[in-house]
Amino acid sequence: MSTNVDKTEIQRAAALLAEGKLVAFPTETVYGLGADARQQPAVARIYEAKGRPSNNPLIVHVATIEEVYRYADIGASWNPTVVTEWLHKLTPLWPGPLSVILPRGKEIAENVSGGGPSVALRIPRHPVALELLKAFKGPIAAPSANPSMYVSPTTAQHVRDSLGNKVDCILDGGPCEVGLESTVLSLLTATPRVLRPGAITLDIIRHTLGCTVDGPLSSGEPQPADLLSPGLLAKHYSPRTKVRLRTTLTQGERLPEKTGALIFSDWRPDFPATETRVLSTRGDLEEIAAQLFGALRELDQAQLDLIVVDTCEPIGLGEAIMDRLVRASRQ
Ligand code: TXA
Ligand code: MG
Repeated sequence: MSTNVDKTEIQRAAALLAEGKLVAFPTETVYGLGADARQQPAVARIYEAKGRPSNNPLIVHVATIEEVYRYADIGASWNPTVVTEWLHKLTPLWPGPLSVILPRGKEIAENVSGGGPSVALRIPRHPVALELLKAFKGPIAAPSANPSMYVSPTTAQHVRDSLGNKVDCILDGGPCEVGLESTVLSLLTATPRVLRPGAITLDIIRHTLGCTVDGPLSSGEPQPADLLSPGLLAKHYSPRTKVRLRTTLTQGERLPEKTGALIFSDWRPDFPATETRVLSTRGDLEEIAAQLFGALRELDQAQLDLIVVDTCEPIGLGEAIMDRLVRASRQ
C-alpha cells in the first residue's frame, strides 16, 4: 500500500496531537479520530466531536508490542502468566486489524475507557498510522472518525463530509484496505471472547491461541458486566436511510418507489431499483468488505426511501460483514 502523506505533514499532525488537538488518520480498517490517549481533555474532545456517549470506551493505537505491555496493566489481569502467554501468541497478528482488551495501565487517561478498568489496544498496519505513531511517540486513542452511530469512514473524504469542521487535521492515506473495523478480543476472562467480529476471524484467533474462544454474544443476549461493550449496541453503523436485508423481503412485497440495491453475489433484485451498487459479482468477501461502507454512504446520499442489501454466509469475514449489515438494518 502506498502512502501519499509526506513526512512534514506527519510531523505537523504529531505536533497537533501533542498539543491536545484532534487528528484523523487512516488505518487499514477504517479512518480513526485520534487524540493523545494520556491527555484527558484531548480525549474528551473526541467524545464531543463524535457525539459519543461518554461510557463507550475508545481503542488505543500503539506502534510496538512493548507499548502494548507498557499501556496495559498485565499484572492486574485475572492471570498474568496466561495473559502474557496469550499476548505472545497473538503478536504475529500485529500490526493488523485486531484490538485486545486488557486491564488499563495508569498512563492512559481514565476517560479513554469511559471510566472503566480496561483498555483496548491495537497496532494498526497502515503505513501512515504507523508513521504517525512513531513521530508522536505515544499512544493515540482513536474511535472510527464518524459521528456516533453513523457508518465508519473508509476514505479521507468520508471524514471531511461528516466531521470536517471538528477535526484539526485529516491525513489522507487513500481508501482503507480492509474496510471493516478491527476485531475486538477481550482477554479479561479465563475464556477469551471476541466482542466484535472483524477481518481477524474467530477461527484465526482460536487457531492462534490454541484454546477455547467465545464468539460475540448475539445482540439480544444480556452482556455480562465484565464484558460490557457499550459500542456493541444493537443499532449501529446505520445510514439515515432505512436498510433491509434482501432475505427479509416477502414475495411480491410492494417496496417504496425509491429503493436502492446493494449487490454482492449473483442475486438480482426483482424490483425496479432506482440506484444499484455491485460490490462483487461472485461474493468475494474481501472485495465486499473493502467497499461496503463507501457504498452505503453513497446510497444514503441518493435520496432513497429504502436500501435493500444482499447477504452472505456469516462465516469467516462474512461474519463481520453480516454483523454490520444486521446492525445497520435494525430499526
Ligand atoms: O478498526 C477499528 O477498530 C477502528 C480504527 C480507527 O482503529 N476503531 C474503531 O473504534 O472502530 P470504535 O470506537 O468505533 O469502536 C471500538 C469498539 C466499540 O464497540 C467499543 O465499545 C469497544 O470497541 N471497546 C473499546 N474499548 C473497550 C473496552 N475497554 N472494553 C470493552 N469494549 C471496548
Ligand atoms: Mg465506531
